Amino acid sequence: MRNHWSSRFGFILAAVGSAVGLGNIWKFPFITGMNGGGAFVLVYLIAILSCGLPILMAEFLIGRHSQKDVVGSFRELTPKSTFWKTIGWLNLAAAFIILSYYGVVAGWTLDYLVKSIADSFSSQDPEVIAGMFGALVTDPVRQIICLTAFMALCLLVVISGIKEGIERWNKVLMPALFAILVLMAAYAMTTSGAAEGLKFMLYPDFSKLTINGILEAIGHSFFTLSLAMGAMITYASYMDKKEAIYPVSIRIAFLDTLVAIIAGIAIFPIVFSVGMEPSSGPGLIFKTLPQVFATVPLGAVLSTLFFLLLAFAALSSAVSLLEVLTAYMIDEKKYDRKKATICMTVAVYVAGIPSALSYSTLSNVKLLKGMEILDSLDYVASNFMLPIGGLLIAIYTGHILDKKICKAEITEDGTGFLAIFNIWYFTIRYIAPIAVFVVFLTKIGLLKL
Ligand code: PFF
Repeated sequence: MRNHWSSRFGFILAAVGSAVGLGNIWKFPFITGMNGGGAFVLVYLIAILSCGLPILMAEFLIGRHSQKDVVGSFRELTPKSTFWKTIGWLNLAAAFIILSYYGVVAGWTLDYLVKSIADSFSSQDPEVIAGMFGALVTDPVRQIICLTAFMALCLLVVISGIKEGIERWNKVLMPALFAILVLMAAYAMTTSGAAEGLKFMLYPDFSKLTINGILEAIGHSFFTLSLAMGAMITYASYMDKKEAIYPVSIRIAFLDTLVAIIAGIAIFPIVFSVGMEPSSGPGLIFKTLPQVFATVPLGAVLSTLFFLLLAFAALSSAVSLLEVLTAYMIDEKKYDRKKATICMTVAVYVAGIPSALSYSTLSNVKLLKGMEILDSLDYVASNFMLPIGGLLIAIYTGHILDKKICKAEITEDGTGFLAIFNIWYFTIRYIAPIAVFVVFLTKIGLLKL
């Protein structure tokens, strides 16, 4: 008998825990900064509604109906097709690649946690604080220590299984993270850059929007909702029939988006009040937020709390990726949980080492467009693997999978949600795949708009 979540609340929290992570607090602000602000935010919101939410529902139905790992799901639902089984493999590969570099960034949060405990930011100059980030990423030994520590934490959680490990901690720490973010956003609104920061984030200047930006927004809508990587399929495979897919999905998408927007509101005013460039890339939150902690009363305590919760948010997301790989080994290769978790953690850890050394020992290795290893992997995963994976899942659910299965799952065996089913089915058949496909063709130059 397959293990299940102990309650509906437990499942929602685990799925929110997977969705809310570094994507919301680290990545969303910096890609918004790099893509010109408000117009990007608008496209991102449209992408969540038209692609992210429908595909989230599709993943939930696939996982819950099949009750299998990501590779097994597609085999179970369409046993005759070999082509569609490859989606499972693509998802698995994306989970592996993303976890390898996600662990590195999560390691940075641990380092900042230690810095906060040691009260390293108090009364430091902005340049000194910004410099700490550079010092961290160019130090190979610290990078490896941070990655090792973080992957060890993931191992501990996943090895204890979904209920005891993931569910228990999420219940306390996710609400706490939300509370502290709101507090920081409120503080940011009192700084001198408040007006400029808000304008940057909310005013849509379409002249700054590029096709790259649109593809990035779509890719990010998948990244932030943990889609096209098997995480939501795997989590839903532990969901029982008592839950309704639609209400759960809408809550997750809403909470995830809310956290990202609040993170933006907490960060951009500070970026402007200390005179930083919003487009300064992956170091953005690490260079800006500690500046707040340096000046406010009780800064060290707040900073410790913030990085603790951020590390936890990263952990609950990383754990869902590791669970994808572990569930695959358990279901398909018949490993026991302990052996499966250890093997996959070690494999991902080894694969993460080049990313950890991206800005130090291996800084001369530039893969794409002159980008370092970590940035290149993130670029390929977010701009290629995720949009293609999402596109395939939309086509699969909308056109290949038996409509009766979809209808029974979304309407909860005909007990409600019929109108929702009709809207969703239309979106997943036509809107989501066409949107992703057109943007993708334009991006690779095969289509000129
Ligand atoms: N959704 C997570 C975030 O926004 O940080 C990242 C993530 C977790 C991506 C799990 C993919 C995944 F399967």
